[in-house]
Amino acid sequence: YRMVDLIQKKRDGGIFSKAEIDWMIENYVAGIVPDYQMSALAMAIYFKGMTTEETAHLTMAMVASGKQIDLSSISGVKVDKHSTGGVGDKVTLILAPLVASFGVPVAKMSGRGLGHTGGTLDKLESIPGFKIEKSIPDFIAQVKNIGLSVIGQSDDLVKADKLLYALRDVTATVDIIPLIASSVMSKKIAAGSNAILLDVTVGDGAFMKNIDDARILARTMVDLGKAVGRQTVAVLTNMNQPLGLAIGNRNEITEAVNTLNGKGSKDFREFIAELAQLMLELAGLEKTIPEILEHLDNGSAYTKFKEMIIAQSGDPTAFENLTEPLNTKYTVGIKAEQAGYIAEEKAYNIGVLAMKLGAGRATKSDKIDFEAGITLSKKVGEAVKIGDTIAELYSNNPITAELIAEFKKSLVITNEAVHQKEILEVVR
Ligand code: URA
Repeated sequence: YRMVDLIQKKRDGGIFSKAEIDWMIENYVAGIVPDYQMSALAMAIYFKGMTTEETAHLTMAMVASGKQIDLSSISGVKVDKHSTGGVGDKVTLILAPLVASFGVPVAKMSGRGLGHTGGTLDKLESIPGFKIEKSIPDFIAQVKNIGLSVIGQSDDLVKADKLLYALRDVTATVDIIPLIASSVMSKKIAAGSNAILLDVTVGDGAFMKNIDDARILARTMVDLGKAVGRQTVAVLTNMNQPLGLAIGNRNEITEAVNTLNGKGSKDFREFIAELAQLMLELAGLEKTIPEILEHLDNGSAYTKFKEMIIAQSGDPTAFENLTEPLNTKYTVGIKAEQAGYIAEEKAYNIGVLAMKLGAGRATKSDKIDFEAGITLSKKVGEAVKIGDTIAELYSNNPITAELIAEFKKSLVITNEAVHQKEILEVVR
């Protein structure tokens, strides 16, 4: 084949064969197809889409671009989870130990922050000493030993996604359903778990801005998983406002630790428990929501979390510090200037603002300030009086009037209470 012909084929609405897709991915990973042709192809896919069959071929071609992990030596049904990205999304930090505390092994590979979204790896690295790198044999040994490990994705896995993702990030080709589906599912398939829970975020702070697109993405991924023998369930979750109260790295660890200790807010605990219920169900365990919440209240989930931190070289003397108030040079409280109910706290703006405060990277090589972040004290639906604190901003750089204005722009207060649900739909 010639790449230029294949780009033209998609540009004109053609449908690729498996052989064509395999050829493109192999030659891209081999460095023969250059980035500029691959990005032109991604843009053609944005406009012309891909059939379910093409998406399946692409996913499997991506899986074949690296190694696959064999988790069969770990007994039991291994359940993985993946989120399509969000603001304040500390779900893995709580859900993975919670599920593991029921004896279901969790062997998870997570990613770093991207754009306005945070990444589980960055959050874990805010724990002193914690190592996100492990060889595959050590990763498997840890899961056999304590039932839980969360590490960074091994370089040997899905090489095509590493290249393609970095390229998409800078060519306005991230939010494309077949490309997200193949990116997520190739990683999940290569990572070897038997069952997969997908958290498909929807709304302002997510890649899928509306529920119709999110539904299509979820359906595509669930079908891809099932087609290769992995039990897969997707939940569509609300990302119009940040998830929980904390945004940032150590800040989200603090909220995770508090939630693991039974101190989370009611809505947030229930959201986590519902996701846990789905993961446990995938592993063949039927648990009620009160039974699951009990593991947050009686310390079993937190014990699992601590076991993982210690197994991955985290400093056990630092546990108490994880729930200390954030320690930054500058702090600004955002106060309500009008009374009413919080109607919107736009997740995208708040995510970008957290990044600017130091919690994320503007370029790949930027260093994250683990202490920087935002803590919300009011969420959508809550009543406020004039002067009530809605949020605190934390940074080691001066918090300028522009930054404060950015937070205020993301905020809408109305006279009537609105309610936002966390879980919008389950796709099986
Ligand atoms: N998360 C992924 O892993 N890949 C995407 O393409 C988007 C979100």
